[in-house]
Formats: sequence, structure tokens, C-alpha cells
Amino acid sequence: MDKISIGLLGLGTVGGGVYQLLQRDNEAINRRLGAELVVEKILVSDLKKARNHEIDKSLLTADPKDVIDNEEIDIVVELIGGTKVAKELVEAALKKGKSVVTANKELIANHGSEIFDLAESAGVEIDFEASVAGGIPIIGPLKDSLVGNKIVKIMGIVNGTTNYILSKMSEGDEYDHVLAEAQELGYAERDPSADVSGDDAGAKIAILSSIAFNSRVTPKEVYTEGITSVSLNDIMYAYELGYAIKLVALAKKRGDELDVRVHPTMISLDHPLAKVDDVYNAIFVVGDAVGELMFFGKGAGDMPTASAVVGDIFKVAGNLKKEKKCYSTCTCFNSFNVKPIDEVESNFYILMEVLDRPGVLAKIAKILGEEGVSLGSVIQKQSSGNLAELVFMTHLVREGNLRSALSKVSDLEDVDRVCNVIRVETGEDG
Ligand code: NAP
Ligand code: HSE
Repeated sequence: MDKISIGLLGLGTVGGGVYQLLQRDNEAINRRLGAELVVEKILVSDLKKARNHEIDKSLLTADPKDVIDNEEIDIVVELIGGTKVAKELVEAALKKGKSVVTANKELIANHGSEIFDLAESAGVEIDFEASVAGGIPIIGPLKDSLVGNKIVKIMGIVNGTTNYILSKMSEGDEYDHVLAEAQELGYAERDPSADVSGDDAGAKIAILSSIAFNSRVTPKEVYTEGITSVSLNDIMYAYELGYAIKLVALAKKRGDELDVRVHPTMISLDHPLAKVDDVYNAIFVVGDAVGELMFFGKGAGDMPTASAVVGDIFKVAGNLKKEKKCYSTCTCFNSFNVKPIDEVESNFYILMEVLDRPGVLAKIAKILGEEGVSLGSVIQKQSSGNLAELVFMTHLVREGNLRSALSKVSDLEDVDRVCNVIRVETGEDG
């Protein structure tokens, strides 16, 4: 049987999982492939570090050349992360004519274009299924199985840490306490700022929308809001109104424009995404032929992520065996603009604290009306002292109009503060 040799770059959480999956009895994989997958070398930064799993120490190296310049190695698997060393090594591997598999969303989202060009000119393949939603197969389905569709919409819960935090908050736990718990359980990054700021989800939806709409979207074009402003009060009101609050990564195509964003979103309790709790991820896709689909599973962790990486290795290895290669690298042959957030239309939930005296509601409603903000419903509740809480649910409104109206409302002396504004996904805009 032919041998296909693999060089791993990184043996951390994901690298360790991939190594274990490739070491166990893989007769079925090898028979399906018609070749034996063998780990030839593993690059790490610290050769003395204790490893959680049994490892053949002779495979380890701290010198990247042992992988990149190794003639034996056919496929380089990048599991270091970040955009510095990882980018240099991926580029070097492609230039050496090696196909690459990576789980690195930052690299693909920010530098996809250069990297795919490099792969194309070197005549090799690069695959990155694990870069979005860990173990959930979503990139393969979007690129291949759903190719007969025009994708209408993608709505994803693609960050496990924030989904865990929001799920626990909906059971009454405070944000700071749940974040500490998520870190202890190993869900959140040591520095969880990319998770809670929405940047991690922003990179993931940039990748998904680039594939779905064949038009390059980079993270800096994705409007991103994190979950730090979501309070227990918002979650309680959302529930009362029939919604769950989730950090949603959303991508839609409207004419020749894309609407791509990440922010806390109120989703109807009837929607399948509202039931996705804890660290689970899910991606809801609407295609014009297939209708609604939902992909659900574990979006992080060693084995779920390794499952996606090994799937890519199998795919790349299969192509290496073919005389006539059959794969595409970059699929971004369109060039659609991403709509500025001020021009996007949404329904909104607005929570404000106001002085509890006659005429206040009328003054606020007048300003909202003048700016074209139409109200669907209003709830008023006694707050502390002489303050009342007002909750407004709007009809579809252009975001720029809402911002302008709220700036004027905040200036009213009867308004203590606008506590939060959260977009509501009603499906009203398709
Ligand atoms: P990790 O646990 O921090 O592992 C990183 C590995 O890279 C370690 O083995 C480390 O070596 C090695 N490394 C770091 N800097 C290096 C350098 N300069 N030279 C050589 N080796 C270096 O990271 P991870 O969680 O496995 O994540 C890897 C990638 O998978 C990232 O792109 C991440 O975004 C992506 N991903 C992770 C998950 C997840 O659940 N963790 C899910 C989906 C995607 P030492 O072992 O010697 O320190
Ligand atoms: N930190 C990410 C999450 C996992 O919480 O989903 C890696 O993408």
C-alpha cells in the first residue's frame, strides 16, 4: 500500500487530538484511501513539555525545516494558530509544493486571498474545515453538497464560549461568574477577549460568507458587537417577549450587496437556534433549492476539531493519489460590497430607564416617529425610586435612523439612560 506522509505543525489541543486519531487503528480509512496515512514529523515550540498522550518522541522537532524541507512529507497540517509563525510556515509549505490542512480561522479569514493564490500557483490544495465551528462539517457542504443552491442566508452560533455564557445567564447566573466558570472548564481562551468581543465569530462568518456568496469578505468588513453589554434584565425581558438572546453571526445577500454581521440577537423561542445551548454550535443555512438546514455539534475541543482536520487530510490525500487533480482553491470570483451597518434594516428591542412622570412616553414616541422608527409594542415596569423601565420593540427600521433617534432620546432630561439595544431576528426581512 502507498504511504502518504503528514507533517504536523503544533501538538497542542487540536494537534494532540489529530495525532491520537491518526495513531489509532485506521484500517478503514487506509482501505478507503488506498494508502496509509503516516505522521512523519511534529513541530512543537517546547521539546521538554510534558504531553498528555503517549507520543513517539523521535517524531518531535523544534526546527520547522524538519517538516517544511522534508522531502518525505506530502501534507502539512498547521495547528499552531495566529497569523505570524503559522502564516510563514503555511506559505513556505505551499511554495515547497506541499498541500496544507489548517484549523486556523484567523489565517484564512485575514489572509485567505494571498494563501489561495499561492496554493493555486504551486498547484497544491489547502483545506480548512476545522476553522469554522470545530467538528461541524460546514465548509465542505457549502462548497460542494449545496453547490446547486443560491444561498439566501446563514445564521450561526459559532462561538462556544459566548453561547455557554449566555445559556448560563439565562438560568440566572451573572456574567463575570459564568465567564470564570467557562475559563475553568477550558472553553474560553486564556485571554477570552476574542470570544466575548465577537471577533472570533466575526472571522468565522467572514469565511462562511466568502464561500456562500463566492465573494471575499474579510473580518474588518464584518460589523461586530460582543456580549458584554447583555444583562440579566435583557435576558429576562427577551424571555417574557418570547425570545432567547444568542450571539449570532449572520450573512445575507440582498441584490448585489452582502449583509454580514455578528451581534447579540433576539431569536424566537420557536427557532431551532434558540434551543442550541451550552458550548454547542449550530449553523442555520437557507438555500433556494434545499430550503432550511441546520448543522449542529461541538464547535471546539480536541477530538471534535481533530475530526474535521482528519476529514480534510483524507480529502487532500485522496487528491494526491489522483493523476488528474480535481480541486479548486479560491472560489471568490464575485466582488460584492458589504452593506454599512447604518444602512441595514432590523427590528430592535430597546430598554431604557426614564423618569416615571406623565408625558415621558409621548415625548419619546414623538422623536422615534419623526425619525421613521415605528413601534410594535411597549412594556413599562416600575424600576427603582422614581424611575420606570421602558421596553420598545420596533418594526423594521434602518439602523442609521434608529441611532439618530436614540441620540435625541438620550438628550431628553426625562430619560435617565438607554440601557441596551438588541437586534431582533423576526424573519420579516427574509
Ligand atoms: P494550542 O493548544 O495553543 O497549541 C498550539 C501548538 O502550537 C502547541 O503544540 C505549541 O507547541 C505549538 N507552537 C506554538 N507556537 C509555536 C512556534 N512558534 N513554533 C512551533 N510550534 C509552536 O492551540 P490549539 O487550541 O490546538 O489551536 C490550534 C489551532 O486550531 C488554532 O488556529 C485555533 O484557532 C484552531 N482551533 C482550535 C480549536 C480548539 O478547540 N482549541 C477549535 C477550532 C479551531 P508546544 O506544545 O510545545 O507549546
Ligand atoms: N474559542 C472558540 C469558541 C473555539 O469558544 O468557540 C475555537 O474556535
